[in-house]
This record gives sequence, structure tokens and C-alpha cells, in this order.
Amino acid sequence: MPIREVSTRAYADQKSGTAGLRKKVAVFQQPHYLENFLQTIFDVDTSLRGKTLIVGGDGRYFNREAIHTAIAMAAANGVARVVVGQGGLLSTPAASHLIRLRNAGGGFLFTASHNPAGPDGDFGIKYNVAGGGQAAEGLTARLYEHSKTIARYRIVEGANIDLDRRCTQRLEEMEVEVIDCVEDYAALMQTLFDFDRMRDWIRKGHSLRFDAMHAVTGPYAQRILVELLGAPAAAVQNACPLEDFGGGHPDPNLIYARHLVDLVHSPASPDLAAASDGDGDRNMILGRGIFISPGDSLAMLAAHLQKLPGYASGLKGVARSMPTCRAVDRVAQALGIECHETPTGWKFFANLLDAGRATLCGEESFGTSSSHTREKDGLWAVLAWINVLAATGLSVGDLAQQHWRRFGRHYFVRHDYESLSAAAAGGVMQALAAAAPGLAGRRYDRWTVSAADDFEYRDPIDGSIAVNQGLRVVFGDAARVVLRISGTGTEGATLRLYLERYESAADALGWEPTAALAPLAAVAEQLARIAELTGRKAPSVIT
Ligand code: G1P
Ligand code: ZN
Repeated sequence: MPIREVSTRAYADQKSGTAGLRKKVAVFQQPHYLENFLQTIFDVDTSLRGKTLIVGGDGRYFNREAIHTAIAMAAANGVARVVVGQGGLLSTPAASHLIRLRNAGGGFLFTASHNPAGPDGDFGIKYNVAGGGQAAEGLTARLYEHSKTIARYRIVEGANIDLDRRCTQRLEEMEVEVIDCVEDYAALMQTLFDFDRMRDWIRKGHSLRFDAMHAVTGPYAQRILVELLGAPAAAVQNACPLEDFGGGHPDPNLIYARHLVDLVHSPASPDLAAASDGDGDRNMILGRGIFISPGDSLAMLAAHLQKLPGYASGLKGVARSMPTCRAVDRVAQALGIECHETPTGWKFFANLLDAGRATLCGEESFGTSSSHTREKDGLWAVLAWINVLAATGLSVGDLAQQHWRRFGRHYFVRHDYESLSAAAAGGVMQALAAAAPGLAGRRYDRWTVSAADDFEYRDPIDGSIAVNQGLRVVFGDAARVVLRISGTGTEGATLRLYLERYESAADALGWEPTAALAPLAAVAEQLARIAELTGRKAPSVIT
């Protein structure tokens, strides 16, 4: 089979966002579009030569084609071995783990996370480097520069790899190993959690419901929850990955997993309900009559993780993205460990994890994970919760109450304004940025501004600096208003407004966060003037 060098012309839009390159499927289907981006990676990150490359995706439409292309190009670019999940499937955390396990040079993860799939949906690619983490800002900037001038790519013509048969195949000089997508990940989970105790918890009659939302976690949940932990088959729903995710929106939150919220508020509620997203890196946790917000989940796991075998020696530190509520900060203080505040996007945790400065990380956008991998990990969070419940004997609701009584409670909500024009979203940001220097000391409702700035992050390990990471207006420990533009949208600009309010006396403000946050939402409107500047009276999505 000949290796061919194909002439191409550059596209100008291959700039990675918060989580890789994400575009409409039709964009990726343009001639040479995918090939250009992959060749850019091979050209810029020469460390893949002679190494192992991990390849997999969330199973969405165009996944298989993309994987065939990636394999044919890897063989033409000097990669020694490709390890690919059977059927082209690998969850994002499992792929990150495989990069580490196989000492691979990197990995291609084909996913647009929770974004809708199908011919009219989204597609995406994330490039993860040796060690399992996402390409850092510096590397993605170099990729983008190179993508603007690329003029040719290399590919093996007529390659025909069978992705469905577990075996090793050869393509020119390269080996292609098709593996079971769950096995190594399931083995890792058994080193972290007390499976005997969890099995016992289930055997004693505690009930579970996990919704894989027709995306990649189906086979993982089936193997781990049902086959290894003995949950009944009905505990896992929508377990079959589909190319269009069944027409759904596999984003586990209060909007797109509303049925789970309804379930836990019904008499049929299981003890623990959970869901993950398209590529398996997000998680949502609910118990009987209660939803645990991601910021709370992070804090509660931080408080209990030491009880689990993989974390028995304690946490080295914790980290959260800037907009994530500050609940975990209080736990870190009580434990006497470091607490880091990073920009939005999982890649910013990688250095802290590598350097042993953080064991547990989380984002408000339903992302939680630990040092076991370099991605957030949906199923890991679910298993951690099962193990914590089994170890403490508490229900989700009692555990939350106990936590709030001890640490106080952070009420949190995110308002998304989707499909704005770039000018409208930018205008809101500019107006608040311009006002920020004069805000300190001003009083709004019952809160006084202690600081207002544009968040900048200096990585404590490599010293790199990330600027323009979101505007924050801080009212001491009592409240915060944060505003930033999404880096993952594929249609227009999305503005995200984050509201956080702290109350030390548990339940003083009631059970539901909406009422507790209403006065802060009014303050935010006064500060950011979103309605006035965009014409939008209300957010498109509230989570
Ligand atoms: C969003 C989330 C962010 C997460 C990313 C990838 O990015 O806010 O926390 O890491 O998706 O899942 P955004 O669209 O806000 O840039
Ligand atoms: Zn995801």
C-alpha cells in the first residue's frame, strides 16, 4: 500500500478551544479538513514518531471514518503502534488512562463531549499528550499557527483496518492493536475503590440508577456496575452507544437529565442516581429528593475520599476551576492542604496532578476526577460516591446535610446565554471589564465588593501565564459573580454567568438554591447589564 503525500490548502479556523477542536460535522467533512488538523499534530509534535498512539472516540457520527483516517495517517507519519478501542470506542478518561498505561506518545480522542451528534450535530478532536493530559495552551497555539500554512499531508492509501475484531493487525510498518475498551479502565477502578464493600452495599438492597444517555459510558457502566458490582441490569439505562446519542443531548445536568431529577423526587427514587455525558468525562449525582451540585460534590468527596483504599494516605491538595464555587476551599482548609484555583478547562489541572500538588480536581460544569487519570472522569465520580455511601452508611441527603452543618453551604447557579453574536457577548465583557477597577468598596444589596478583576493564572509548576480567563466580582467570602465567554460553543458566542452565595448556617436559606440566589442574580444584572446590552431577558439554559 503506497504512502501518498497529498497537496492541500489550509483552513483558517482550526483553533482549539477549552476542550480541543470542535465544529459542526459538515465542517469536518470538508475535503482534507480532518487530515489537515491531524497532519498539523504529526508535524508539530514530533514525539509521536516511533511511539504508541492511543485512538478512540465517543461513538458519535463520523467517529469511525475519522478513526480510519487517523490510523492511515499515523502509519504514514512514523507512529510505531496504534492502540484503538473496539468499535472505535474509548471514553475520554479511559483513553487518558491508556496513554499513561501504555507509555504512549499521545492520543487522538474523537468527541464533541455532550454536544448533540449525528449528521447535523457536532464533531471534535482532542489531542492528549504523553502522560495523558490535554495539549497545553502553548502547544495548541503552535498547532493553530501551523494549521494556517499547511500544504500537504501524508496518508497510507487503501488501508483497511477491522475495528471490530480484537486482535493485532499491521499497516505498513505500524501495528494496530484493537482492544476491549473497558478492561484496563475497570482494572484501574478496582485499585481505587473497595469493590467488596460496594458489592455488599448493593446486595443489602441499596438501589442505583445510572443513565449512559446512549453515549460511550454504556459498556463501562454495564461491565462495572452490573457485572462486577452486581447491580441489577435495569440499574443502567440507555446503555447502548448510538451514533446520534438517540437524538438526545447527553449532558448530565438539571435540564438534559431532568428525568433523573423527577425520578429522585418520586417514590421510586433509587438511593443514588447518576449520569454521564457523551464521552464519559462528566457526572451528575443525585440522591433521594436531592441533587448534589458539582461544587458540593467536589467538596463532599474531598471530605470523605480518605476513607477509600486508593486515597487512604490522604489528599495532597485539591483544585477547582475559578468559576466553581468555593465549597472545596473550606474542606481544604480544614484538612490543612493546598487549594488551587485554575482557569476553566481540565488541561490546567494536569501540571498540578503531575507535580503531586493536587489529588482531587473539579469544575462546576459537572467535572470531577482525581490523580488516577488526566481527564475528568464521570464513572469514577459515581463509583467514588457509591464507595463513600457504603463506607459511611449515610444516605446522599444525610451526607449533604452533615456537610453543610459543618462547613456551611455554597449556593451556586450558572446562567448561559447561547448563540449571541460575538459582538454582543464581547460588548458585555468589555463593559464589565471597564467598570471593574472602580467597583471595590461599592455596596450592592447586602454585599460589598472586595475585589473585581479579569482572572489571570500563573501556573505554579511551569510559570506559564493564562490571561483573560473570566471577569470576577468578589464580595469577600459571602458571594461572587463571574462572567466569561465559552470556549466550546460551535454556534455564535455563549456567555456564562456564574453566581455563588455562601451561608454559614446550614439551611438558613432553604433547600432550593433559586430563591437564595435571586437577589444575587439582580445584582449581577446591575453589574453586567446583560439584558440591556444583548436584548436577552433571560438565560437560554440554567444549570
Ligand atoms: C465547558 C465547561 C468547562 C469544561 C469544558 C469541557 O467549557 O465550562 O468547565 O472543561 O466545557 O468539558 P466552556 O464552554 O465554558 O469554555
Ligand atoms: Zn465530556
